[in-house]
Parts: sequence; C-alpha cells; structure tokens
Amino acid sequence: MSQNDINSKYVEFLNEALSAENAAVDRITSRMDQTPIPELKQRLHQHLEETHNQQERLTQVITRLGGKPTESKAQLPILAPPATTLIKKTVKDSLESITNDKKDNPLPEEMELMQLKQDTLIEGAEIVGYETLIEITQKINGLPNDEIIPAIRQSLQEEKDMHRWCKNNMPMAVGILLPKILSAISK
Ligand SMILES: [Fe+2]
Repeated sequence: MSQNDINSKYVEFLNEALSAENAAVDRITSRMDQTPIPELKQRLHQHLEETHNQQERLTQVITRLGGKPTESKAQLPILAPPATTLIKKTVKDSLESITNDKKDNPLPEEMELMQLKQDTLIEGAEIVGYETLIEITQKINGLPNDEIIPAIRQSLQEEKDMHRWCKNNMPMAVGILLPKILSAISK
C-alpha cells in the first residue's frame, strides 16, 4: 500500500464531506428564501457563508493531496411523515374540491416545522461526519495533520454552533408556528 493509494482513499473521505457541504449550500439557500422566521433567515445567511468556507477548507486539502474536489451533492437526512399520508390528503382533497375543504392539507406552518426539524438534523449529521473525519485523519499516517486537523475542527465548531442555535431556537419557532396551526383546526 503506497502513500499515494492511502492519500487517494483519504481524498474519497474528504470528497464525501465536500458533497455534503455542496448539498448544504443548496438547502440553506432555499431555506433562506422559504422560512417566514426572520431570526432563522439571518442565521442561515451566516451559516451559508460558513458553509462556503467549509467547502473551501476541504477543497484546499483535497487539492494539496493531489485529488479532484467533487461537485457532486450528497443526499441530506430527511425527517418527514410517510409519503402516503401526504398523498392521501391530496387525493381526498381533490375528491372534496367541490366543497373546497382544505382542512386536511398540511399548512405552510406545518411544512416549516418539518423543515426546521430537518435543518437541525442536517447539522447533527454534519457534526457526525466531521467527528468521524477527524478520527480517520488521526489514524492515517503520512498526512499533513498539522494543517488538516485545525481546518476540520474549525468546520466542526461551526456545525456545532449552528446545531445548538437550531435547538435553542426551536421554542421560539414553535411559538410562532403552533398558534397558526391550531387556529386552522377550528376554521
Ligand atoms: Fe452546516
């Protein structure tokens, strides 16, 4: 096993992390447009910049090891009710379209709540990804660890901060969304 072979295997791990960040950029950008919660919009804006820096850190290490930074996008974690629940609601809704009773359709606030849980999950997955990458980096000999580890730790810290922010602000978000969800029941 030559150092070159080891480096190219390690580059695969780095590219796996990069593909998650590539997907995260798309996700954060669309969430910034979507969310009705101004505090989240602002925090997402900050995290978009951080995510670009995270892409850059990974790209630099990959290039330094002679690898090619991937442009592919990972599939991010999803937390959603079974698709059939939403489909049933849609079918039922079209059958009842004469009465125009939309009560069973998920409200934008319900969708937002689902997305918020997913935002938090994604940050949690990124933490797991970077913690694992640090373990891998420390166990492979011959890598420029003095450069790589601080860079990964910086990204890990940003993910932890964003994860904590999402969790800490869930009560605020629920406080905004839940009254609207509940008031729709009585209509
Ligand atoms: Fe992130």
